[in-house]
Amino acid sequence: MYDGLYKHFFSRVDAEQIHQLSISLLAGAGQFAPARSLLATTFSAHPTFPPINLWGKTFAHPLGLAGGFDKDARCLPALESLGFSFIEVGTVTPQPQPGNLTPRLFRLGEDSALINRMGFPSAGMTTLAQRLTNRANINILLLISLGKNKATALMEAVQDYTAVLNALYPFGDGFVVNISSPNTPDLRKLQTREYLSDLLSQLTQTIRTLAHDQSPKPLLIKIAPDLEWAEIDDILDLALQFGIAGIVATNTTLQRSNLKSIYQTETGGLSGQPLRQRSTEIIRYIHQHTEKKLVIIGVGGIFTGEDVWEKLSAGAALVQVYTGFIYKGPAFVKQALNELETRMRQSGITRYEDIIGIK
Ligand SMILES: Cc1cc2nc3c(=O)[nH]c(=O)nc-3n(C[C@H](O)[C@H](O)[C@H](O)COP(=O)(O)O)c2cc1C
Repeated sequence: MYDGLYKHFFSRVDAEQIHQLSISLLAGAGQFAPARSLLATTFSAHPTFPPINLWGKTFAHPLGLAGGFDKDARCLPALESLGFSFIEVGTVTPQPQPGNLTPRLFRLGEDSALINRMGFPSAGMTTLAQRLTNRANINILLLISLGKNKATALMEAVQDYTAVLNALYPFGDGFVVNISSPNTPDLRKLQTREYLSDLLSQLTQTIRTLAHDQSPKPLLIKIAPDLEWAEIDDILDLALQFGIAGIVATNTTLQRSNLKSIYQTETGGLSGQPLRQRSTEIIRYIHQHTEKKLVIIGVGGIFTGEDVWEKLSAGAALVQVYTGFIYKGPAFVKQALNELETRMRQSGITRYEDIIGIK
């Protein structure tokens, strides 16, 4: 049914309008217990393999929703009912900001891809904190993506990231430092040793203070797929030095090759199928170079259970999806998990952990 809707309706209407409509529908549905149960019984997966224990938490399975879908935490109960094991909220900025001018989201149907130049539209950390205080209907594990305002100079970026971390620490199960969006001018420079060292030093200090005498919640870094290996080495080096919990690999790419869609020349980050291989290659590299000291969350071009298998076997412990969910619709998690479980059974594997890095 979703395929038909997609072909006849979604593909003809502005991509962001559809996204906003979906968010509103999910936000509305999530407020009513019967609607949530209907979504859960229709779409939720029932994994048969043992859950994953990580950072003192239990993930029902490895498949989560990537940063940027529910930027302002508007529809968490409905997304939970669709079967994700965790959701990354945000990216959240300290002050509210509108993001870039529209149009800023393009569907490259022939390429199973999207290009976006959203530029962190955000309701801001105070609204997010208020919304997450009322977590009555939400049990799902939450990562929160930390960002900076466009107007904040790069030299002052550290203050933005620490402000969002301070404001939202009680509400997240973990935090992702987003320094890899291509749509905030110069943001990716924060991935260089010159800036990253100070950023990680301050954030890890802040998180230790916020944790009081408990163990600090995990802090991860989200990286770009367009980095050179030497740049990735620098990031891994600093991540290990500062005791970072993991790496989210990867954000969208600025590369364009072998695309068919007329939108291929649009400015912004490319996601989906054309990103899959590069993101897997980076996951494999990190896994091989860090001797399992960093947890990897793999993201980029996941559409099927086989794609999840690919990311796990390259070294990811968890995975996330964005573009695949847009194309395949609300049954995404159920379908992908069914495919993954078939693949695991065929391989004689009964724990998700046993796939990590086998290839
Ligand atoms: C419209 C759109 C908005 C996004 N916004 C964010 C964001 O705010 N923060 C972030 O870390 N990643 C953001 N991303 C990147 C995704 O989280 C993900 O890393 C990327 O799309 C690759 O995964 P995919 O191929 O499954 O889409 C966004 C992606 C898209 C398509």
